[in-house]
Amino acid sequence: MKSDVLFERSKKVSPGGVHSPVRGFTNLGRSPVFFKKGEGAVLTSVEGDEYIDFCQSFGPNILGHRDPDVQQAVEQAISEAWTFGAADPYSLEFAEMLVEHLPFVDMLRFVNSGTEAVMSALRVARAVTKRDKILKFEGCYHGHVDSMLVKAGSGLAGQSASSSAGVSEQTASTTLVVPLNDIEAFEKVMKENAEEIAAVIIEPLPANYGLLIQDKAYLQKVAEITKANCSLLIFDEVISGFRVGISGMAGELGIEPDLVTYGKILGGGFPVGCYGGKLGFMQQVAPIGPVYQAGTLSANPVAMRAGMATVQKCLKANVYETLNDRASWFTGELNKMFLKMEKSWKAIQYGSLFWIASSQVENYRTPDHIRKDHSEHFNPLFLKLLEKGVYLAPNSFEVGFLSLAHTQEVLQHTLNQFGQALKEIS
Ligand SMILES: Cc1ncc(COP(=O)(O)O)c(C=O)c1O
Repeated sequence: MKSDVLFERSKKVSPGGVHSPVRGFTNLGRSPVFFKKGEGAVLTSVEGDEYIDFCQSFGPNILGHRDPDVQQAVEQAISEAWTFGAADPYSLEFAEMLVEHLPFVDMLRFVNSGTEAVMSALRVARAVTKRDKILKFEGCYHGHVDSMLVKAGSGLAGQSASSSAGVSEQTASTTLVVPLNDIEAFEKVMKENAEEIAAVIIEPLPANYGLLIQDKAYLQKVAEITKANCSLLIFDEVISGFRVGISGMAGELGIEPDLVTYGKILGGGFPVGCYGGKLGFMQQVAPIGPVYQAGTLSANPVAMRAGMATVQKCLKANVYETLNDRASWFTGELNKMFLKMEKSWKAIQYGSLFWIASSQVENYRTPDHIRKDHSEHFNPLFLKLLEKGVYLAPNSFEVGFLSLAHTQEVLQHTLNQFGQALKEIS
């Protein structure tokens, strides 16, 4: 197989043969599929095999691969220039469009990734509050910023332990971690560190450890307590932004974060991140303020025009309703199928996001609700689906993404493959 050959070559020049760990098919007992082409909902491998893609580059492709309007915008951009390193009208137009549709964003700065957006937002929060500590939630992922690569030891709220080598103890000690869905634990840690917490950062729709949909009242309380403590509330909407609606979870919940971070969909498949928020906070950023943050390729004109074409299309009537209806039908049918089986699976859905759990917990709200051997259940299903031309993200804790290109027909075909796959692995 060609992918095997490419993987062997790749392992010699890149760690694990990949450029981001989750692409590595770790513990799956085979090489990753190497893809050469994408069109709509379908990816084509180097072997020429086709796969219905539910990973969609881990979220950016809300319109599917190579959407014609995005492609046109990119081709137009490339015919003019692909980087200026100077002021340009495209980032201005895009920023104006975003500020118009995001009531909690007065001002924003484009960067190159979600990680950069988070790193910069945290810096602003520390500068504004003149405090050092950041509180995050167990199971939420905020990119590979040193201070965010920290989790609670054995679920003990408020304790810090680095979850990556190379993160200094000093850095890790400025991050406090509390469990999701536990307002008492949150309140206690906030009280104990009241004078020191610069910001509380949360994925308002945690989607990096399965799909852990939080209770609205819980999130409202988190927001209330954070603001009462004069800490900044940062919503990390790198996944949920422009995915669950134009104004993301902040809009859905009616909660105003002080700062918000975006990525993924915002670049229409090109590298973009963005952080933004209230005027007083964003005016702290260089060159008008003391918080230094810069980027050679920031607001790259190709990415700006791809992102703008994507968001413009999302603004059209019924895009989110269509995505939501299709995802809810698809997961509903999956759940009907699962109920007929001895083994318990459960499809969880929010907007066009879904996740397949391997037990029947009523509400998955924290990583503790996920069975410990979840990957052992998921991996054979993933491999069987792959054999049948369905590509989920190659990791049991990653969510699936529907795009507008996932039509009813595509989803029905997927359901048939799921039915077969489940029969064959049971
Ligand atoms: C919620 C969240 N924040 C931040 C990031 C980091 O974004 P990037 O991978 O673009 O650096 C991710 C990436 O998946 C994410 O899901």
